[in-house]
Amino acid sequence: MTDRLGVGVIGTGGMGLRHAVNLDRAVARARLAAVMDVDLDRAREAAAGSGASVFTDAESLIASPDVDAVIIASPDPTHAPLATTCIELRKPALVEKPLAVTVDDAADIVEREVRVGERLLQVGFMRHFDPQHVTVRQVISSGGIGRPLLFRGWHRNPPEPVPPTSRQVLVNSAIHDLYSARWMLGQEVADIFVKGTTIDPSRSDQLDLQVITMSMDGGGIAVIEVNKDSGFGYEVGVEVTGTAGMVSTPPHHTPSVRRDGEIRQSVEPDWLARFARAYVEELAAWTGSVLDGHPTGPNAWDGYLTLTAASTGADSIEQGGPVALDTPDRPALYTSEG
Ligand code: NAI
Repeated sequence: MTDRLGVGVIGTGGMGLRHAVNLDRAVARARLAAVMDVDLDRAREAAAGSGASVFTDAESLIASPDVDAVIIASPDPTHAPLATTCIELRKPALVEKPLAVTVDDAADIVEREVRVGERLLQVGFMRHFDPQHVTVRQVISSGGIGRPLLFRGWHRNPPEPVPPTSRQVLVNSAIHDLYSARWMLGQEVADIFVKGTTIDPSRSDQLDLQVITMSMDGGGIAVIEVNKDSGFGYEVGVEVTGTAGMVSTPPHHTPSVRRDGEIRQSVEPDWLARFARAYVEELAAWTGSVLDGHPTGPNAWDGYLTLTAASTGADSIEQGGPVALDTPDRPALYTSEG
């Protein structure tokens, strides 16, 4: 390994391309070493001007001696098999969320990592690196609001070309909010109840506007609104109430303009704009953690527990009531922040 981490990116669509560009231009200790996409033109575009090699299969990229670490940003069903290959070859990887599509596959990944005895995976819950979220978390951990009691989160999205199913809303999108609730409260999910409604009447069996209520194992409560078609753009925020006060992310940081009897403020169009800084901070922290040998940030255990909550939330829609979670003991490998 040179002094800069050589990173290979698998999947160079919306998310993977952003990671590739950030590695090439914004993360001082990393270099874009390789890219791979089943769409070869996309891979070539992502590599252009960076000197990165273009691979046509993911396994060869992972095995390449020029690739010190891997980013898995291909579609959700590819995450578990590619993460498994990374563990087998002892290649550190940043796996986009969700860690896997099924809870069994996520549990299998955790088991493999525990067997190897090394924390090789970080999971792409990038809000962990968003300066606004970090500040809120710092206030809570320093006792600034007393003991945290209630987490409120909101996550409003632009529409997607193919509207998601109720389960996909939870496993692919709300999973970010479930991670935030666990992280902010420092508690695990004890039970989850999801209710919702639909925006498109022709899909009345699919809930794309959901309200998630969770009891946490330390006595806290979490309530989250997730809307997959907000009608106005993208917005994410959190507010936490404690025994001695409250803390929240600030409202939009775009300028507010007063004119013609109105106050106007623009809203970010999507997550790439809203979390632009978080994506860079995430890669910088991950690169540093791999080079320095101190794993940090959301790990495979977080990926597994958060997916379990999301998947149980989908079960609760089917069952029409709260469903309890049975949280296993945390393996010693994941007891420290690293
Ligand atoms: P996308 O559809 O824009 O890109 C996916 C890319 O993967 C495409 O270029 C496609 O050709 C390629 N691909 C498909 N099958 C492949 C395979 N077997 N091997 C390699 N490449 C393959 O999707 P997007 O939005 O970039 O999402 C990718 C992943 O990133 C998803 O798992 C998603 O959940 C995650 N994501 C995470 C976000 C975050 O904020 N952390 C935000 C958006 C997506």
